[in-house]
Amino acid sequence: MKSDAKTIIENTSKILVKTYAPQPVVMDHGKGCWAWDTDGKKYLDFAAGIAVASLGHAHPAILETLNHQAARLMACQASFATKEKLECAQLLVDNSFADLIYFSNSGAESVECALKMARKWAYDNKSQQAHEIIAFRKSFHGRTYGAASVTEKRHAQPYFEPYLPGVHYADFNDIKSVEKLVTKNTAAIILEPVQGEGGLTPADPAFLKALRDLCTAENIALIFDEIQSGMGRLGTFNAYEAFPQEDGSIITPDIVCWAKGMGSGFPVGAVGARKEFGEALVPGTHGTTYGGNPLACAVAATVMKQILSPGFLDNVNARAQQFKNGLEAMMRESNKITAIKGAGLMIGVDTGFDIKVLLAELQNNGMMATQAGKSTLRLTPPLIINEDEIDKSLVIMKKTLYNLT
Ligand SMILES: Cc1ncc(COP(=O)(O)O)c(C=O)c1O
Repeated sequence: MKSDAKTIIENTSKILVKTYAPQPVVMDHGKGCWAWDTDGKKYLDFAAGIAVASLGHAHPAILETLNHQAARLMACQASFATKEKLECAQLLVDNSFADLIYFSNSGAESVECALKMARKWAYDNKSQQAHEIIAFRKSFHGRTYGAASVTEKRHAQPYFEPYLPGVHYADFNDIKSVEKLVTKNTAAIILEPVQGEGGLTPADPAFLKALRDLCTAENIALIFDEIQSGMGRLGTFNAYEAFPQEDGSIITPDIVCWAKGMGSGFPVGAVGARKEFGEALVPGTHGTTYGGNPLACAVAATVMKQILSPGFLDNVNARAQQFKNGLEAMMRESNKITAIKGAGLMIGVDTGFDIKVLLAELQNNGMMATQAGKSTLRLTPPLIINEDEIDKSLVIMKKTLYNLT
């Protein structure tokens, strides 16, 4: 590492609250699926800001939208309608089960809104005591208080107690464990269609159906957190569309949370809700200064129009299959890979190696990736990745894994 990168890292860590362990390189710029550090080293970016840069880096359509919209209008009170807000909300309504949209600035804020919406709906429609929420072991929903309260890690962080009361944890993909926790005061069940931080575990379609039936029968709000898995990452626009039932039908939630890939790097999020749930929030019950600002909405609309453009999701599916085939071949011919997990371009690889060592070696060999759970390698490339780039990533993966002992 050259001295200027070292100085940037040292000086940064002197003045930043240490919520993250520092990385050994300084990122400088990116183009498409590639990123460069300040020493000029090039990386295939399979981290993508942790499933954020859905259109890769410096996408021309985003640059054009940013320039155009920044020159027109960047800020106005959230109470105003704008053409940009309408277009963005309409895209979400037209391409999901949702009737009503709320805009936020991040994943955790989407989760906060979803929890408040479900609790207000239950207060109005069930009883004033109906505040309980069922979440899942190995869940991750964010770091603000509500989101952290439905994230299992709270049990390892007692110093933040008291968390939101009335949250109970069931086992993912185990409907019996959920049924045992349902009471007359259950307001909502929240889950990730593919658990991300928890180790890339997809929901079982039969489990989703059982959850939907349970929520309908017991009058409980079903919330899907699609912050990591939505917006095309699973090869379908909505993550829930990637889990068809045997008869081809699709299970939909009552409330969905979006963020990450929706802005491809621009901080934006949203909540989609069926009418009766969305209508529970009325003026004064929730809001945000930046949510739905014209710049964020213009960028998100551009990103979603790309994801919805002909052939885009076909490419996600083809590249996901190509990558999986390559990983499976490595798994067959060596003992380096013990499990391949996830769905679409949200892939987890388990190996016998120390995950920190594996990530550092991948980085040395020119590929960025991230960790999920205790030891899973998480691979979430930009959705625009092409065939040649997947081939290149497999060469780096193979070189890295086969050289580790
Ligand atoms: C499934 C899920 N929910 C919520 C969040 C929180 O999003 P943010 O970091 O934007 O607050 C994340 C972030 O990793 C996530 O993966």
